Amino acid sequence: MHRYALGEASLELCCGDITEADTVAIANAANAMLMGGGGVDGAIHRAAGPELAKALIELKRDLPGGVLETGGAVITPGFLLPAKWVIHCVGPIFEREGDSAAKLLARCYAKALELCRRRELESIAFPSISTGVYGYPVNLAAPVALEAVRRGLGDGAFPRRIRFVLFDDATLEAYRTAADALFR
Ligand code: APR
Repeated sequence: MHRYALGEASLELCCGDITEADTVAIANAANAMLMGGGGVDGAIHRAAGPELAKALIELKRDLPGGVLETGGAVITPGFLLPAKWVIHCVGPIFEREGDSAAKLLARCYAKALELCRRRELESIAFPSISTGVYGYPVNLAAPVALEAVRRGLGDGAFPRRIRFVLFDDATLEAYRTAADALFR
């Protein structure tokens, strides 16, 4: 586990499976339809159980066209997961968004942190949003994600602990390099 101080909050980087994270909330790298998929989304749905998809179907009723915009985030319970809450974020598809990709990626993290603040959630774990199926190069995504977390924390009391749970060594290394440059 690699730790950095961000004001009163702590940022942790580690390798692992986010479905096992013991944080109060975990973030999901979802898609606009919120219907589950592969990658981390599939793993979260499998571990949370079928109630998660049912909760998302309910929640979609309140979204225009039943679709969550890119850069948006919504919250559901975690059901069978150790985490009490799941914050579903829709990251940008790198090739499609072009110059807007960084802004939209940063917005996912900002919105997720805003939900933590509003609900007074003490801790959240993030995966590396958009760097799998959505094709965002991880060396470009890592500094955007980390800077968005720093900005999104502001000086509020929640969350106090932010963890990135990264699935492989190369992704962890990219986030470590970016965090060393930004925070040390
Ligand atoms: N824990 C942590 N990270 C994971 C896990 C897991 N259990 N499984 C996969 N990952 C990692 C991937 O290795 C990658 O580094 O999460 C990162 C994001 O990859 P994707 O899950 O492919 O997410 P993304 O690129 O944002 O694409 C989203 O994929 O599955 C679909 O429904 C999802 O359509 C959406 C798209």
